[in-house]
Amino acid sequence: MRSLRSLVALVLVGSFACRDATAPDHSSGTAQAPIPSVSAEAAAPKGRAMPSGAAEAPRVALGIHGAVSSQEENATDVGLAILKKGGSAVDAAIAVGFALAVTHPSAGNIGGGGFMVIRTSDGKAFALDYREMAPAAASRDMYLDKKGNPTRGSLDGPKAAGIPGTVRGFAAAHEEFGKLPWKDLVAPAVALAKDGFALDEETAGDLARVTKKMRDLGYADTAKLFEKADGSALAKGDKLVQPELAKVLQTIADQGADAFYTGALAEKMATEVEKAGGIWKASDLSSYKAKWRDPIVFQYRGHEIVTMPPPSAGGVVLKQLLAMSQALQLDKQPWRGAEEVHLFSEAMRRAYADRNLLLGDPDFVKMPLEKLLDPAYATERTKNIDPAHATPSKDVSAGLPAKPESPQTTHYSVVDEAGNAVANTYTLNTGYGAKVAIAGTGVLLNNEMDDFATAPGKPNVFGLVQGEANKIEPNKRMLSSMTPTIVSKDGELRAVLGSPGGPTITTTVAQLTRALVDYQVPLDKAVPAFRAHHQWMPDEIITEQSIPNEVVAELEKKGHKVSRRERIGHANCIEVDPKTRGFRAVADTSRANGKAAAY
Ligand code: DON
Repeated sequence: MRSLRSLVALVLVGSFACRDATAPDHSSGTAQAPIPSVSAEAAAPKGRAMPSGAAEAPRVALGIHGAVSSQEENATDVGLAILKKGGSAVDAAIAVGFALAVTHPSAGNIGGGGFMVIRTSDGKAFALDYREMAPAAASRDMYLDKKGNPTRGSLDGPKAAGIPGTVRGFAAAHEEFGKLPWKDLVAPAVALAKDGFALDEETAGDLARVTKKMRDLGYADTAKLFEKADGSALAKGDKLVQPELAKVLQTIADQGADAFYTGALAEKMATEVEKAGGIWKASDLSSYKAKWRDPIVFQYRGHEIVTMPPPSAGGVVLKQLLAMSQALQLDKQPWRGAEEVHLFSEAMRRAYADRNLLLGDPDFVKMPLEKLLDPAYATERTKNIDPAHATPSKDVSAGLPAKPESPQTTHYSVVDEAGNAVANTYTLNTGYGAKVAIAGTGVLLNNEMDDFATAPGKPNVFGLVQGEANKIEPNKRMLSSMTPTIVSKDGELRAVLGSPGGPTITTTVAQLTRALVDYQVPLDKAVPAFRAHHQWMPDEIITEQSIPNEVVAELEKKGHKVSRRERIGHANCIEVDPKTRGFRAVADTSRANGKAAAY
């Protein structure tokens, strides 16, 4: 799937010395991914037949050539069009990512960052880290007031923004795996920004709320980007037109990712952020690199799982959760019954205690990864789980209460005809990030700095109580929960998974993996099923309204506190039907917008 262009360059120079900073990074001293190669198998379409079951637009789509599932209809359509044009799954993922930056501005972005997990049809796996980075002028206590208490500085306004990684990340993915020209992948987003697109009810409502908040924070110019000219709210069916963003995207389309990180546009962005009270320097942008990491790859009950390593905690926690599930023989418990939810909650409680205190950016902290990833350690951790009673979290470790999640990040999944697969989760952190755009660009700033332990030992916006491993340091990447994940069996792709939801991301992905592997529940049934989450502190199971009352009663009898939340996560996923090898794309439309498409 590697582009002919870079393959030719490789053959000519016989080394990677000439490849730019977006290529797998051999100089950083960090884990390195193997170099992708083209195989005959990768190029050859495999025989597939339509999966059984009905398509049910926009929630479920069936196909044999390719599939896309994302949180927004226009973006899904863009992805499918790229696949039909002969683009690779990575091409389509890049195009979907740029489109979401326009059509799903609460989380889609070019001013944020994320993670992409790729599995090529010949079974090779790759993990791309394009997480935001703390500016060089950042410091450990920059968000504390004089009394040492955390302020909202890590959440609202330009100072909350890390150096964005999305554009470099997409360019790095394209460099390695792109088939179509870069500009063709950005062009649909340019058109959506320039010509506008009709708002659906959910996005219109969301914009009405957030523009008020932007004004309250003093960012009226940003609010204006998402309102009518007279300052009134856009309604369902109205077009959102974003000319400034269109211009920036056009520059990226014409001049490549470099234009966003060096030169006039980068200088302008750094100057405007600083003028507005932030701490970006042009040198922060020019030094930003997307990094190829060694993916976490492991076996779970006959399936191979490929997932994201640090600076996301997602893969480490996912592996721990599945290893504990295996040790507890959870597959013997009926799916979504009280016993299964209880035992899985105990596993989650223990995994999150480790996550919050031990993990951080691998380029800055030494982590006991070998131990955390050892199945024997996971088995050991299950030894004090009582099947009849909840273990109080204070006996596992200490912590503080959580605050409600602001639900925004977005995950999408893509597969192409050859069976190449992409799981991509990216974000501005909370909805619309720092609630402010860089003047004159329409680019919303992330508020990802809050994912650091801004005040170690105190909870962040997701209630995560984290330690020194994740303290702020210049040029460091903040710990994440994002868990883009790909499952295969006997060398064949089985599923592409992921979700937004802060700390609930990893537990959502673990539950979907277990639905497929332990219970053979297809994704169109597994995705809408209620989810349960435990993150050690607060000491409670967070779940959804649709959990049956009798399951809650059983859990409470065992000593759990159970609190219901409107929704957990938004898992836009794809599975390969094990019988027909056809694609079943599923959008998580019972929780929010989305569209699955396949052909
Ligand atoms: O990287 C993380 O873990 C968070 N910034 C993700 C935020 C998120 O999922 C918000 N949405 N629900």
